[in-house]
Amino acid sequence: MKAQYGQVLLVDNGGFFPEQEDYQDAAWFLMDAMKLLGTDAVGISEKELKYGRAFLLAQYKRTQLPLTCANLIDKQTKKPLVAPYLIVKKGTVMVGLFGLTSDKVDMGVSRDSVAVEDPVAVATRTVAELRKKGATVVVLLSQLGKVESEDLVTTVDGIDAVIVGRNTPLLQKGRLIKTTVACYGGEQGQYIGRTLLTLDAGKKMVSGDNETFILGPEVGEKPEVLTLVKSFEDSFNDKLRKKEKERAAQQELNRANGGTGNAEQAVDHYLGGDLCQRCHKAEYEQWNTTLHAQAWKTLVDAKKDANADCIPCHVVGYKKPGGFQTGDDAARLSNVQCENCHGMGTQHESYPTQARRITEATCRGCHTSSTSPNFDFALYSPHILHKPQGALKPLPPNPAKQKMLQGGAAH
Ligand code: HEC
Ligand code: HEC
Ligand code: HEC
Ligand code: HEC
Repeated sequence: MKAQYGQVLLVDNGGFFPEQEDYQDAAWFLMDAMKLLGTDAVGISEKELKYGRAFLLAQYKRTQLPLTCANLIDKQTKKPLVAPYLIVKKGTVMVGLFGLTSDKVDMGVSRDSVAVEDPVAVATRTVAELRKKGATVVVLLSQLGKVESEDLVTTVDGIDAVIVGRNTPLLQKGRLIKTTVACYGGEQGQYIGRTLLTLDAGKKMVSGDNETFILGPEVGEKPEVLTLVKSFEDSFNDKLRKKEKERAAQQELNRANGGTGNAEQAVDHYLGGDLCQRCHKAEYEQWNTTLHAQAWKTLVDAKKDANADCIPCHVVGYKKPGGFQTGDDAARLSNVQCENCHGMGTQHESYPTQARRITEATCRGCHTSSTSPNFDFALYSPHILHKPQGALKPLPPNPAKQKMLQGGAAH
């Protein structure tokens, strides 16, 4: 179309963020892709706000994608969340573009951070402003649905073309509504609509026409976009596969524990390291070489294994849900195990998150100034990391050992 017509504007009227919960990455990827395609203006629906205002704004800033929506107000700044309108010079023509989003749908998690103003009032004001600023052609990217979009362009004068969005049927031939050419491009990004406007010497529209085409294989690939898609899909698939594995692991953990397989229903609790070892052999074997795996024997040898002053730091989850309660639990829950550092097994799904990264604070719960006066995170950590970190530096003897053996260290 660019080759054929020269003065071509490429627009998307929004609603492209994915439905599926795990697909947040596809949201920013699509913004990158639209930017790469040189899209001139992009509208917004409530879908683009499903991950929150901050997510959208961060991606807006990062990609510099020309988002526009005239009636979407940021409650924090009291100003439009993104550009209320855009004026783009295409060839010799000044085109004004603006988006409208629906004031009749729930904004989900963004409900408290954005407000939606009345589309008709905003459109009237915006068209006047665009015309005043020299736009001779005005295009609306509408998320108001078929009926409301048609009503609006009938009520508000001066809109030359509207791209109708939100549950819109696909109409191969667009319609002329009063003097506005309407495009109905269907859903799922499988179509491209072409709106041709014929202008007079003053660059004002005299007639227009719209047609929608399916994007079949004959369209061909744009190499830059293909590269972007491939690299995104590879890493995205890996991520989804990993998530799927984690979800299955979580279900197995719950089942093995007599639960329902539904993580949300169970109260979080400790499970014991025997379970972990089934899937994390290498980590288990390394752990088994550390003194953490000897912590219970230390108490038994010292005949302190029934002493409540000593037990807490030498077992799993002392007196906590699912954790070590009495000596009967020693077979399964003695020693400093996986969950002492990684957290309750029922929270396995959240382990890969940043918030779960193991820090010095995790160690300091047990390695206190009285039990471990020489504790130095940088020096001690290599001894417990599951992957070899080169030659280990020997640790200094623990000056608190004798005191602990005499029973005075815990306090
Ligand atoms: C049924 C198998 C299974 C069991 C049982 C299991 N895990 Fe996992 N675990 C996984 C899978 C799968 C992953 C995802 C990482 C990957 O791609 O290998 C994972 C990830 C992890 C991670 C790393 C997360 C990251 O990416 O940083 C930790 C830590 C972990 N598990 C600890 C445990 C602990 C502790 C237990 C016992 C309470 C346990 N796991 C039980 C399968 C299991
Ligand atoms: C639940 C309590 C607990 C937590 C949490 C804990 N430790 Fe320990 N740690 C112990 C106990 C108890 C021993 C002594 C084991 C024994 O020999 O009986 C020990 C021993 C060690 C040793 C061996 C010391 C030596 O003299 O050889 C290292 C190294 C160590 N811990 C590092 C860490 C690091 C690093 C962390 C945090 C990532 C950590 N530990 C978290 C309780 C804990
Ligand atoms: C606040 C947590 C905590 C309590 C309570 C605690 N310990 Fe420890 N214990 C540790 C840590 C941590 C280490 C390892 C310190 C190091 O090596 O730096 C340790 C190490 C030891 C060691 C030395 C093990 C070795 O291999 O050299 C003995 C013995 C010991 N504790 C016995 C006891 C006894 C007995 C009690 C009760 C009087 C007790 N501990 C209470 C955390 C604790
Ligand atoms: C003393 C603390 C501690 C104990 C005990 C511990 N881990 Fe870890 N684990 C770590 C640290 C630290 C990391 C490095 C990643 C991080 O910082 O979260 C880690 C990482 C992992 C990973 C991710 C792969 C890797 O090597 O980075 C898995 C899986 C894992 N642990 C499983 C286990 C299992 C299973 C057990 C019990 C058999 C266990 N851990 C016991 C501290 C611990």
